[in-house]
Amino acid sequence: MEYGTDERKGKVSVLTLQKMKKKGEKISVLTAYDALFASFLDEYMDMILVGDSLGMVVAGYETTIPVTLEQILMHTQYVRKGTCHAMLVADMPFLSYQISPEETLKNAGRLMQEGGAEAVKMEGGERIAESVRRCVETGIPVMGHLGLTPQSIHAFGGWQTRAKEPEEAKHLKEDALSLQEAGIFSLVLEKVPAALAQEVTESLTIPTIGIGAGNKTDGQVLVTQDLLGMYEKFKPKFVRKYADLSSVIRSALKQYNDDVKSGNFPSDEESF
Ligand code: KIV
Repeated sequence: MEYGTDERKGKVSVLTLQKMKKKGEKISVLTAYDALFASFLDEYMDMILVGDSLGMVVAGYETTIPVTLEQILMHTQYVRKGTCHAMLVADMPFLSYQISPEETLKNAGRLMQEGGAEAVKMEGGERIAESVRRCVETGIPVMGHLGLTPQSIHAFGGWQTRAKEPEEAKHLKEDALSLQEAGIFSLVLEKVPAALAQEVTESLTIPTIGIGAGNKTDGQVLVTQDLLGMYEKFKPKFVRKYADLSSVIRSALKQYNDDVKSGNFPSDEESF
């Protein structure tokens, strides 16, 4: 899609997001994994994230851990085709940024150069600060991600809310400041107490984007298929279902099957 070919004005960039934080304007973010969904999202969202949640939503894995750089790269290329106004962020998958700052830079560079991403997202705090710095000084905008970071799910032992205890909360606040100092342009806070997310949001100059982190963050992100009621395996409390597409899909598929079996499809008007 070419910039300027539809009715929305303006391209969202890191500067737009900074201005939005300053003005107290909320930032809307959703995930996309293909061009068709991206083109719907692009009409409304400020940011589109090619999340490694594609491992569960698209590939059918139990966690995000098996997702590879090649998979994120391919889906980022698809999403690029449907995105024009929103800022396009690609998730860095497990082990693509933990080994060394050089390898991180190389992999983040591929997501930008071959995938068309405008920024990358990485999970973790102080321990990834050097890799973040390396990307940022090369001109790659980086989004951080703290709290319930799904790539660490086996280390956490489950999907429980993070940083409820004072020690973990203190650690998270320090991580947020280290990441800001390393140069991130925005920070995702996932499944942490709302009061903590508010405190972190007020302590940072960059925008925070919450998911299960209350409504005092600078923006919100959800997995699109969750809010559309398509992903049925798992329904976190923080998801609001804005549609029940799985019922719509099932009823359409049943009707098609019935029509094929009964000979009611295709009709004369649908034939040549
Ligand atoms: O992978 C993903 O979709 C994410 C968001 C839900 C924040 O990381």
